[in-house]
Amino acid sequence: MKDSAPLATPAITTTGNSQVLNIWGGFPLAGEVRISGAKNSALVVMAGALLGAQACRIHNVPHLADVRKMVEILLSLGVKVGHSAGGVLDVDARDLQGASPSYGLVSQMRASFFILGPLLARLGETWVPLPGGCDIGARPVELHVRGLQAMGAEVEIDHGIVHAWVKNRRLQGTRIYLDYPSVGATETLMMAAVLAEGETIIENAAQEPEVEDLANFCRSLGAKIRGAGTNTIIIVGVQDLHGAEYSIIPDRVEAGTFLVAGAITHSSISVFPAVPEHLTAVTAKLQGLGFDLVSDYPRQLRILSPLVYPGTDIETMPYPGFPTDMQAQFMSLLSLSSGDSVVTETVFENRLRHVAELNRLGADIRAKGNHAIIRGVPHLSGAPVMATDLRASAALVLAGLAAQGQTTIRGLHHLDRGYESLEVKLQALGAKVERTYQPD
Ligand code: UD1
Repeated sequence: MKDSAPLATPAITTTGNSQVLNIWGGFPLAGEVRISGAKNSALVVMAGALLGAQACRIHNVPHLADVRKMVEILLSLGVKVGHSAGGVLDVDARDLQGASPSYGLVSQMRASFFILGPLLARLGETWVPLPGGCDIGARPVELHVRGLQAMGAEVEIDHGIVHAWVKNRRLQGTRIYLDYPSVGATETLMMAAVLAEGETIIENAAQEPEVEDLANFCRSLGAKIRGAGTNTIIIVGVQDLHGAEYSIIPDRVEAGTFLVAGAITHSSISVFPAVPEHLTAVTAKLQGLGFDLVSDYPRQLRILSPLVYPGTDIETMPYPGFPTDMQAQFMSLLSLSSGDSVVTETVFENRLRHVAELNRLGADIRAKGNHAIIRGVPHLSGAPVMATDLRASAALVLAGLAAQGQTTIRGLHHLDRGYESLEVKLQALGAKVERTYQPD
């Protein structure tokens, strides 16, 4: 692990307000797109690397603004971080310090809160600012906090800072039932438990593939975890963890987004590498609409699209239900269906803000509470639109690919948080897309 260099600043910008994406829609796509490592796995695994007292090498880390922010947070904790070509990140937390990362860094990204569990487990005391992130809901952290308290931590929240400490420096294993299978809370508590004394059982745990990926990473460090990927996770704490080399799973949301790109442009495209089992809720929904999905070889999925498809109803759920992170993209697809659809968002309370932007492109969608009622229209037409959050911006890109004429999307900092080189990948499939600067 000695050949790594300091992490270079990515070519992407994190303040992309002056950048716009121009899309000239109506062109079919063709070919295969390479799927990056999962953002939500990479971020939590980077935090998990704080648990090890030796260096970790993480492969398949996507080149994203959120990853860059997490690197800055790790650096501010005295951790050495370096990268090599091809998404390889080295994280060496042997000199981990207890310093609190700045509010400025943490407030920009929800995933930064992941450092709480590992810092508490390794150092016995930490101060972490309450997180920020996409404006898709209140996103409280009481499940994280209550779980840590059940493990013997003292927690005080004052002026937006979470101060957590353990009197005898070591958390105690216990039984924790989560009121809701929160992904973040499951991950925080799993990371806290791997260095706790005794056994921790997390019931009603989140079952998302990224939770399982984190568990596999922790196991590679020497943690004792079983049941990750089911609703009951059992962790037997160990004294310390070593380093490891680990590869992040493919991003199921990116893969799903590209499958919808194929669907909405009536094209046949394939995604690789992908884990089809991680995409079952998405592929089942596409198949229900008449799209064909075939696997020509392992870890690949190809979509074949009909010209006309009906509407359908969708309700977002924790995994293995339909993912909230694919809701906006499907709304674009359903806006061009030949029927009516109802989309119900149950996971986040403020995740329908793309409705107004899709309507600017000619969609016929009415939002009421957490429901969106969609009447399929024969075509969309290009217009200037504003990205309101990460997946909403993906939905606008998809709608723009199908719309007649030019769509211009602003607010690209949302897109850059979660999609690596999106326009480059789309261009390779034949899309007419370009990123340019436009004065604010
Ligand atoms: C993660 C993902 C995000 C995805 C979401 C649901 C990362 C970095 N982000 O977010 O992309 O959309 O899972 O699949 O992995 N909640 C509480 N109290 C808590 C914690 C959560 O009420 O203490 C609520 C949230 O407000 C939300 C719901 O639970 O309404 C789901 O949140 P959670 O599963 O925790 O999502 P995140 O981990 O924030």
